[in-house]
Amino acid sequence: MSLERKDEHDHKGWMQERDLTPVESIYLTVLMWLDKRLRIVDYLEILENLYYKVNMQMPKSHTEQYNLDNKFWYWYPLYALGSFSTIAYVVAAVSGALLGFYYSPAAAGASGSPTVAYEQITFIMTDLNLGFFLRSLHRWSAQVMVAAVFLHMLRVYFTGAYKEPRELNWIIGIVLISLTMVFGYTGYLLPWDQLAFWAGQIGVEMALSVPVAGEWAAQLVFGGFTLTQSTLQRMYILHVFFLPFIATTVIAIHIGIVWMQGIAEPH
Ligand code: HEM
Repeated sequence: MSLERKDEHDHKGWMQERDLTPVESIYLTVLMWLDKRLRIVDYLEILENLYYKVNMQMPKSHTEQYNLDNKFWYWYPLYALGSFSTIAYVVAAVSGALLGFYYSPAAAGASGSPTVAYEQITFIMTDLNLGFFLRSLHRWSAQVMVAAVFLHMLRVYFTGAYKEPRELNWIIGIVLISLTMVFGYTGYLLPWDQLAFWAGQIGVEMALSVPVAGEWAAQLVFGGFTLTQSTLQRMYILHVFFLPFIATTVIAIHIGIVWMQGIAEPH
């Protein structure tokens, strides 16, 4: 009997021994068909091993570890702040992508009238169906994210979770809080209203105050020493293109490391 035929015989014999429901039998037939061609069971086993490995890494809760009789349950919500930051980020990303359908980063308007960017914001707020809601969702989720990231950092600090072996994730966290603030700043300039304009002016002056490289920094980030179309366009591309790619990747690495290391026990 060839190896293949023996295999078939074994599978069939096994299937007949047990009373399979129709769903089970379809599942097994499909699995065997795929396994014969793609060795899918090997990969499922790898996934299964990974699943158990990851779960083994989950540390005991504080209550279990220190036999605390549930006295510390009220600290637990603070451990959700990282996830809360992630949720706020996703809401901001989705609402931002939708706002992108209506916004245009044009600093010029007809002479004497507001800029196109500002008029698009006015359109979103007053004429677009649920536009005011979409913009508020974006602004609020962004602000909630800033607050959540900051509080998450405090939680990590006060539980000593930044210590060995989690130093790398702390440093990645510093990058993330910086990216969050740059997201906030670039977004703040996009309506190109008075708040945006003067915040931009402060930014240019801060860049110019950097010793030696000041003028170069202002040129690079703001496209010059005064606020122009180049400034708005740079803020726009940073906000909707560079930062989303960079932040999403860094957040994925950050959470991937937490996944591998497990949550820290309090020190
Ligand atoms: C976009 C910003 C951030 C996101 C989305 C994020 C997400 C997360 C998530 C989901 C966790 C799992 C544990 C938890 O939720 O508390 C975590 C853990 C951690 N985060 Fe963040 N984080 C961010 C910013 C930061 C910052 C600013 C720091 C510090 C400078 C930081 C340092 C850490 C460290 C060290 C851990 C491991 C903590 C432990 O094992 O208990 N993260 N982060």
